[in-house]
Amino acid sequence: MTRALEEVLRDAIRTIPDYPKPGVLFRDITTLLGNAQAFRRAMDELVAPYADSHIDKIAGIEARGFILGGAMAHQLYAGFVPIRKKGKLPHETVRVAYSLEYGLDEMEMHVDAVSPGEKVILVDDLIATGGTAEAACRLLKQLGADIVAACFVIDLPDLGGRAKLEAMGIDVRTLIA
Ligand code: PRP
Ligand code: ADE
Repeated sequence: MTRALEEVLRDAIRTIPDYPKPGVLFRDITTLLGNAQAFRRAMDELVAPYADSHIDKIAGIEARGFILGGAMAHQLYAGFVPIRKKGKLPHETVRVAYSLEYGLDEMEMHVDAVSPGEKVILVDDLIATGGTAEAACRLLKQLGADIVAACFVIDLPDLGGRAKLEAMGIDVRTLIA
């Protein structure tokens, strides 16, 4: 019998207490990525609604969004664009500052990574406060992207990130809370 996706994902995600700071329960998806069945089922579920849509680009947030985004881009016949921590991209960039559950940072995209009007899906492993994803959406909008959805494997609903993106008019999809 096929197990429910949520159960498969719950079993495949490891929780590390007090990482990277005391008080944080870190949801580690490396165990999910290393589990062929769980990884495939998560990817199939994330791309399913877009199988018959034309998606130009998947934008993945560093670092785990690169892994998920690469798999989604392949499956949807879309391009992949990286959204990176500052100082990592070689060409001219657009940049925004953002705050995290445990610190402050800046992220960048290449100015020519997305053309105005292109249909883009944003992806990351997890949404917590939504600071990272909101900043990524600001970058995408600055480049004129049509953000079709923002997809995450894990939602931490108590931290309000999903509501923050929905208030910006973004369609948010998550697989497990
Ligand atoms: C994690 C996660 C998201 C972000 C979510 O990345 O992969 O990108 O935090 O948090 P938020 O919703 O509160 O903004 P992290 O900042 O740990 O960076 P890393 O991918 O480089 O480890
Ligand atoms: N990013 C922000 N909060 C996180 C958490 N609790 N687990 C994994 N990544 C995170």
